[in-house]
Amino acid sequence: MEANSVQEIAKICNNKETLEKFMYKNGYPESKTECVPLMENVIIDLSLLSSSSSSLQVDQEFSKLRSALTQWGCFQVINHGMTNEFLDKVREVTKQFFALPLEEKQNYSREMKQKDEKAINDWDGYGNDPVVYQHQTLDWMDRLLLTVNPEHQRKLQFWPRNPLPFREIIDEYALKVRTIFEFLLKATARSLNLEENCFLKEHGDLVTIFARFNYYPPCPIPENVLGQKPHSDTGTMTLLLQDEVEGLQVLKDNQWFRVPVVPQAIFVNIADRLEIMSNGMVKSAVHRVVTNSERERITVVMFCSPDYEREIGPIITDDKPPMYKKVVHYENLFFENYQFGKRALDTIRF
Ligand code: OGA
Ligand code: NI
Repeated sequence: MEANSVQEIAKICNNKETLEKFMYKNGYPESKTECVPLMENVIIDLSLLSSSSSSLQVDQEFSKLRSALTQWGCFQVINHGMTNEFLDKVREVTKQFFALPLEEKQNYSREMKQKDEKAINDWDGYGNDPVVYQHQTLDWMDRLLLTVNPEHQRKLQFWPRNPLPFREIIDEYALKVRTIFEFLLKATARSLNLEENCFLKEHGDLVTIFARFNYYPPCPIPENVLGQKPHSDTGTMTLLLQDEVEGLQVLKDNQWFRVPVVPQAIFVNIADRLEIMSNGMVKSAVHRVVTNSERERITVVMFCSPDYEREIGPIITDDKPPMYKKVVHYENLFFENYQFGKRALDTIRF
């Protein structure tokens, strides 16, 4: 069962009844945005991390990375090799896709495919928050999901043909994201004084990258409705491109923080599989998205992960006992828990 497009609901909603399914009746924790402090701006300069020479500045950048990984589980990267103009193109084609008439977007819909192919464990396509239980509070967003890597697993029938440059630009963006991701995995290992390839090698030959294009319409009652409920991501790292509208928040020591908008930066958050592999050394960031009544918000998110078939577990590098059990298809465990507000990580902790 699928709810209607939230984008369409947002156009017509003038009563609380339509919004009922999206509402947290008493608001959500710290729902007043002005009460939520801005996150300390952790910006990592990738050009410094790639420097082969050791200098005070380079060492400082690695220790900044280390503290972001262990304390926040997230940071923003600059000097990543993509120009502002290119990032704007990625934002623009995404915006143009969501601006298409509903009927046209539905040509790529996940629901259609499920009817045709009875594929349930397949997420590619246009749609919104899947309803898995009756009293679920729905997220105020629509999304397009696409497998982008490995290339042979792409399902091109879901890749928009309109706007025309969509495929080419997203193809190029995905390639860049893969390079940055692999670079960051190595930098992460180095910052923790581990062998540089230790995380990358756990990914095997098939780095999986799954793209999610998120559309959050303006919401008439932002104090009661979330764009996305609190969650952590399932992969190893997530790379997120925001537009100029704020909305993302991260949890640190039981306190929510707003993620600042830095137009030229890519926001990176550590996801559960890397917390597992690192045996808890790095932290998978719990985050949520709030809504606002004024402006739509669009993000392009790339979830990077090992091949889902691979068993993953802590890579033990010192004499600490493993904190997590080994798992295969962690994403299934994740979705069994997610809609109930539970963390899959907690179910595999020793
Ligand atoms: C996600 C996510 C944040 C955002 O898609 O998993 O956390 O700001 N997105 O869109
Ligand atoms: Ni997320």
